[in-house]
Amino acid sequence: MGIYFEEEKKIFKLDTENTSYLIGVTEEGYVGHIYYGKRLSAAGGGYLLRTGEYPFTPSVLKREKGAFLDTFPMEYSTGGVGDYRESCLDVKNFMGQTGCEFFYRSHEIVEGKPVLKGLPASFGESGEVETLFIYCEDPVLDLWVTLSYSVFFREDVITRNVKLENKGTSRMFLEKVYSACLDMDNRDFEMVSLHGSWVRERHIQRCALSYGRQNMSSVRGESSHQEHPFLALVTPETTQEQGEVYGMHFVYSGNFIAQAELNQFDQVRAVMGINPSQFSWLLAPRAVFQAPETVLVYSDEGFGKMSRCLHDFYRNHMIRSPYVLKKRPILINNWEATYFDFNTEKLLDIAREAKKSGIEMLVMDDGWFGKRNNDNCSLGDWVVNEEKLTTGLKDLVDQVNEIGLEFGIWFEPEMISPDSDLYRKHPEWAFRILGREITQSREQYVLDLSRQEAVNYAYESVAKILRSANIAYVKWDMNRQLCDIGTVMYPCDRQGELLHRYVLGVYQLQERLVQEFPNLLLENCSGGGARFDPGMLYYSPQIWCSDDTDAIERLRIQEGTAFLYPLSCIGAHVSDCPNHTVHRVTPFSTRGNVALAGTFGYELDITKISEEDRKQIPEQVKQYHKYSHLIQNGDYYRIASWSEKKPYDCWAVVSKDKKEVLVTCVQVLARPNMHSYCIRLKGLDQGQQYCLEETGEKFYGDELMQCGILVSGLEGDFQSKLYYFKSCLEG
Ligand code: DGJ
Repeated sequence: MGIYFEEEKKIFKLDTENTSYLIGVTEEGYVGHIYYGKRLSAAGGGYLLRTGEYPFTPSVLKREKGAFLDTFPMEYSTGGVGDYRESCLDVKNFMGQTGCEFFYRSHEIVEGKPVLKGLPASFGESGEVETLFIYCEDPVLDLWVTLSYSVFFREDVITRNVKLENKGTSRMFLEKVYSACLDMDNRDFEMVSLHGSWVRERHIQRCALSYGRQNMSSVRGESSHQEHPFLALVTPETTQEQGEVYGMHFVYSGNFIAQAELNQFDQVRAVMGINPSQFSWLLAPRAVFQAPETVLVYSDEGFGKMSRCLHDFYRNHMIRSPYVLKKRPILINNWEATYFDFNTEKLLDIAREAKKSGIEMLVMDDGWFGKRNNDNCSLGDWVVNEEKLTTGLKDLVDQVNEIGLEFGIWFEPEMISPDSDLYRKHPEWAFRILGREITQSREQYVLDLSRQEAVNYAYESVAKILRSANIAYVKWDMNRQLCDIGTVMYPCDRQGELLHRYVLGVYQLQERLVQEFPNLLLENCSGGGARFDPGMLYYSPQIWCSDDTDAIERLRIQEGTAFLYPLSCIGAHVSDCPNHTVHRVTPFSTRGNVALAGTFGYELDITKISEEDRKQIPEQVKQYHKYSHLIQNGDYYRIASWSEKKPYDCWAVVSKDKKEVLVTCVQVLARPNMHSYCIRLKGLDQGQQYCLEETGEKFYGDELMQCGILVSGLEGDFQSKLYYFKSCLEG
């Protein structure tokens, strides 16, 4: 299928439907990067390794090895022996000296893709994906490096990961292990990334690539609100439809680095991996270290194609949940409705009113356990607060079920409040640095998940509650970033393992959860969207996108999120106004239309909102049922961006068979004396005739794409409109 080795030229050719990736092996065994881009017909381009260009190549004269190593396009760079660009692998030997260099020894090509033990990773059957393993050795360290490449033919995605094995007899320390490296000649690349803050996550940023190193990273213990484990190098002409895009996305939920470096010879090195800050891993004799996976995607048709490739890839090969392609229940969450101030009666009132409007699930958020009446206590004490839930949890769930709604619940299992019975019993279970007072954030500490007993406790706390009642959904929250990284569990030379071990602990917890409760709908969350990353998708088909539920702020946040992630995983709710974050007032219909481009639900006190707003809910619910299949499984097209200074924002979802299209248009600020906007659709079948449902008008696909449609009748700020077109043949 997609991978073959041309023995004579010593070139590996990895093909997806529209892309090729070429790797060459030199005489000495260096594994070099030849090419990544548009599909090639044959395994050529070996000259791009430029092995003959240097005055003294290593095989000819070893003393000039430095000049070679500092320019050779590496598939996976190593530090300490003469490549002064960013290394992917730094290894300290038993003497404390850093240096590593490895050589090709053999390879293997297999159908399918093996799992990565303990880590989230993409999956696929034979026929969908093929994997290349390149086995390399550092003969001095007796360290074996396996470079893995999995080729997902249909989605135009190649994933990479790296495994290290100490086959020697001495200990060594991994001081840095990245997961992927992409060395290319510069083509005036620009760098595209996502940045943000709490309530302002994943805004798209584009800037010129200049000499030196530019990176996005996190040292916060999670993928973070601030920067995203993604990086794209793009040619200057790149837009939604044109230009070349090289995207790298990291399947990991902890500290990361995504970096591009432009060097003295106009070569670019893009790398991605676990952030080396505070990282050091003891690799004992015979031990193995598995680095997380990186997703590579190449598009020669701009950002739009990159987004669609990633959406298909995540839907088909990362999200395991049975919900992946299923309609999600329309939920109502009580967080913005009540915060901590609720009880059984209040929840039942919400449920009864919600049922009347067609809402399908009640989610009880933070505050149902311990003595939690605000955010300063009880994390870790996962016992029902019977002052609030007076008849107990099971009874509440049963009553909600009787009303006709499913029931969901909130947890924050990774945390421990200083004011909790758990902390009083096990103060040693919080991360702490000897002699220092632990830094509080939201008045909470972080559980040391490198301790198996803490992982077990957290798991049992959640599972026990889930076993006790008919709970269909869990919102798994995480509301602070990590610091004070220390534990008495490990000796001084292994404290550098803790941040990664913490993430492995989180993965273990969620893996156990989805194994024991395979039909549970899990939604990850972290103070809004601080852990919205591909790693989390492996466990949960949806992630809460942001604590900012204002429809206008959401335009940018959801645009940046949909840049990489399918709409079906973007947690989005209609909330009350004035909005609790920005105090903006927007029409209820616009809040509904924006939330529709996500999982869709409500987060307001339905018993208190105005009659005018409440009356719109059944209509919105109907709309969701009508369009959810499109939004969940269709192709996403970005048409106009408010973030790029347009007065309106517009996107469309086209069904895979191109017979249906839903266009959403939001006018952010009304422009005086501007009566209509012309919007050109994308992704349609040009010869097909489409009917606009609202008016019955008929248009040809090429007419809609070339002439466009006129959006009119949006009077005032924050107004929005949906246009639904269906193939006229469909009746
Ligand atoms: C942060 C989440 O993003 C909110 O939706 C809510 O669940 C709070 N935590 C609860 O503490």
